[in-house]
Amino acid sequence: MSDKMWAGRFLKESDAMADDFNSSISFDSRMYRQDIEGSAAHAAMLGAKGIIPQAAADTIIDALGHIKDDIESGKLPIDPACEDIHMFVEAELTRRIGDAGKMLHTARSRNDQVALDLRMYLRDECAEAERLIDELIEAVLSQAKDNIYTIMPGYTHLQRAQPVTFAHYILAYAMMLLRDRSRIRDAVNRMNVSPLGACALAGTTYDIDRRATAEALGFGGVCLNSMDAVSDRDFCVELMSAFALTMAHLSRFSEELILWSSWEFGFVELDDAYTTGSSIMPQKKNSDMAELVRGKTGRVYGDLMAMLTVLKGLPLAYNKDMQEDKEAMFDSLDTVKKCLAIFAPMVRTMRVRRDAMSNAAQKGFINATDLADYLVRRGMPFRTAYKTVGRLVAKCIAEDKVLQTLTLEEYRQASPLFEDDVYQSIDLQTCVSRRISEGGTGPASVRAQIDYITEQLDK
Ligand code: ARG
Repeated sequence: MSDKMWAGRFLKESDAMADDFNSSISFDSRMYRQDIEGSAAHAAMLGAKGIIPQAAADTIIDALGHIKDDIESGKLPIDPACEDIHMFVEAELTRRIGDAGKMLHTARSRNDQVALDLRMYLRDECAEAERLIDELIEAVLSQAKDNIYTIMPGYTHLQRAQPVTFAHYILAYAMMLLRDRSRIRDAVNRMNVSPLGACALAGTTYDIDRRATAEALGFGGVCLNSMDAVSDRDFCVELMSAFALTMAHLSRFSEELILWSSWEFGFVELDDAYTTGSSIMPQKKNSDMAELVRGKTGRVYGDLMAMLTVLKGLPLAYNKDMQEDKEAMFDSLDTVKKCLAIFAPMVRTMRVRRDAMSNAAQKGFINATDLADYLVRRGMPFRTAYKTVGRLVAKCIAEDKVLQTLTLEEYRQASPLFEDDVYQSIDLQTCVSRRISEGGTGPASVRAQIDYITEQLDK
């Protein structure tokens, strides 16, 4: 009859379609290493506490090591017929060492086991996600260092607003990415407590040592309520929301790169390696990678919503609904990692077209605020200065001029406070270098930002 682990209680085979529907091995086998490490730590504790014979514990640990090696070398293919990775490893262990293998699941349940594996897996993966964020921040930094004096228009409402430097502009993204990294770290810190020993839901009658397994597996502590330990997927929600926000940032950055790569802007040119051509239009160079990152943001948002929805209204403790955590979580993780990985070299290799930025900055009256400030420095109240400059801008638009090309006479007709130093004070370099306020676009502030971000990278 059935060779299922629970065959004792069942009189009939399960339906093949139900087996397939129930199975998670196609997506949870990626946690094989954490599953094996967790099992080895559990076996060691069971041996040390005399719950199983020490010799059995040693045999289990040794065999688990070989199973891990064999999976890694490809000698032991994962059997898709097993329900999940936990069953697969245990079945293989028992196949190899017989009765000793059957002792491993003493004082444990798949409910605490899967919670353990997932926390360990995500903890490892988050280190990699953080490293990828760092790489992207480094790429932004290298572009920023080369462009401390590159003037471009800054926008509000996508209308030219005030001059900024390209360095200042893209450092804004480095700041967002630093926060993303910090949110991932926060999530990992809260996640880093061990659920092992919560067993099915209520704990166990065996005298286990949860602190010992937690310590052996690198956890900072243990989950203090066994029912919470097996039901909690907050850590997935937290991570997925950190990833969703990371994607929001990457998608905004993508949108800028796509716009800036257009003929209309022409501010940057993405390297050939990160663009594609068209199958019909020979002139095209499309920013597909950036567009895909923007598009994939939708899936990562969706993953977060899927997880929240799975948890909504779930009674304690474990319910099979929770098996749905992994596909959403892994999709979110894989997607954000892939997007970060492609983004870093794309930013590092892009060509910044300073002339186009500078040309765009000449138009659009982005020094109008500075002109008003000039009058304010000469004693005019800001609101009056604002109106005076507004009238000058209207005159320029009517006569197809820019503020730099108005004559001193024209300026003095608007206000006798204007002197010939007005031209110097609306020069775009002046406008930028005068923005000395902390966090502003002036070169000293930009250098301070670069130093801050560089320091944070090593932390
Ligand atoms: N494959 C299951 C999951 O991913 C493992 C836990 C199963 N526990 C249970 N009582 N059926 O959630």
